[in-house]
Amino acid sequence: MFHLLEAQQFTKRNLRELFDLSSRLETILARGGDECLKGKILTSLYFTPSLRTRFSFEAAMLRLGGSILSTEAADIFSSELKGRFEDTIQVVSEMSDVIVLRHYESGFAKRAAAVSCVPIINAGDGPAQHPTQALLDLYTIDRHLGGVDGCSIAMVGDLSGRTVRSLCYFLAKFHGISISFISPDLTEIKDDIKEYLQRHKVRFTEITNPKDGLVDLVKEVDVVHITQLSKEYFTDHLEDYKKTIRNYALSAKALRAMKRSAVIMHPLPRADELPDESDSDPRAIYFRQNRYGLYVRMAILCTVLSCYPKFL
Ligand code: CP
Repeated sequence: MFHLLEAQQFTKRNLRELFDLSSRLETILARGGDECLKGKILTSLYFTPSLRTRFSFEAAMLRLGGSILSTEAADIFSSELKGRFEDTIQVVSEMSDVIVLRHYESGFAKRAAAVSCVPIINAGDGPAQHPTQALLDLYTIDRHLGGVDGCSIAMVGDLSGRTVRSLCYFLAKFHGISISFISPDLTEIKDDIKEYLQRHKVRFTEITNPKDGLVDLVKEVDVVHITQLSKEYFTDHLEDYKKTIRNYALSAKALRAMKRSAVIMHPLPRADELPDESDSDPRAIYFRQNRYGLYVRMAILCTVLSCYPKFL
């Protein structure tokens, strides 16, 4: 049984197979979808909110003929929170063929996998990992740059979060990667990720005091991957947030300075970190990135359930 729990479990070859399958499923979807998951049930088990991940997994299941068990969460889980997490997983796994789990604590996807009789897909476990978001990010890079090897990427914003962590684990599988981490101290990249990148010989630099709206930091890179600096970090100090976001948002000047071949990515939701001009810029591919999530998650479901369209 294949549980999708963390980025480290993939090989470069697995990634290529998954990305090829994602592209083929896009074509199948354009021709009306498929029924290869007919009779299968996906349970959405979200202990914290999600819009993009949850809906794209549910849409992926429905587009391939499957069914979903879903819930508005809080009311049902209030009783579950008092009970044993493992019991919840065992009960739900008896009713479904795959569980997509988001939990507010690190390590809970692995705990679920230890007792589940069906595949667990980690849709985000606390600050630890969000491997399926990072898979669609990587797919987007692969597709728009024609490959991941040799890519230079500026990661800007909240680098302590699970998406960036998973993406770093994936990037470490490729050759010639260089990363600039650009963030306030508050959300800097964690030491365990830096150690992992060093072990895998990935070049990286850290910048905590960017100047001039990021112009010099983004003008040479292939990818600007920007994440939201949550206002929650500045709860009692909204003025500090406003000052900080001025330094870590992509300015219109930086957008103009970027290479024509570069791309701007964002896992969404966004707040104030992109200039108004970026939405009409052909290099801004965050909505396409989000759409690719549907194809990648269709491919993930086919893979974990070992059910594929007949005419791939
Ligand atoms: N990008 C992402 O994970 O969004 P959700 O929290 O809405 O799933």
